[in-house]
Amino acid sequence: MKFLVILGLLVLTYSFIKEKEVYDLMGPSIDDFQAKFRNETRVLAFYSPVNKKIKEFLTHYSEAAKKFMNDKTPVRLGKIDITNPSNKEYVKKYNIQSTPSIIYFLEDSDELRVYKDGKTYDDYIEVFTSKTQYKRIDL
Ligand SMILES: *[C@@H]1O[C@H](CO)[C@@H](O)[C@H](O)[C@H]1NC(C)=O
Repeated sequence: MKFLVILGLLVLTYSFIKEKEVYDLMGPSIDDFQAKFRNETRVLAFYSPVNKKIKEFLTHYSEAAKKFMNDKTPVRLGKIDITNPSNKEYVKKYNIQSTPSIIYFLEDSDELRVYKDGKTYDDYIEVFTSKTQYKRIDL
């Protein structure tokens, strides 16, 4: 019994580590994220932790990521701290001018799209659910 409980906890911990709500990306892990989830819609939020409103922004963003994960919506959300020196070249590569800034790529596409809609939980759910080409089949 004790063994099963421990095993259960291990499995739980493992699946928790495996599936992330918001991917904390840095340097080359940004490219890995892009490659690994090219089959899904990828959303990248560039933020600066110095920004006063950042906490609220990140709360909405990660709540949306949690919902996508629970619903198995093929949308992956990542965040990138622009003050981290290893992200400097990515700020340039993706032409980020201000923070927080959100860009996204639709599934199987490398075309950079700039997210211009609202930055609340409801906006993210509405916009990205409608953009995903994934057809949900409810039996
Ligand atoms: C996309 O690919 C990743 C990595 O191989 C996989 O974990 C994920 O389940 C795939 N998503 C879909 C919707 O098939």
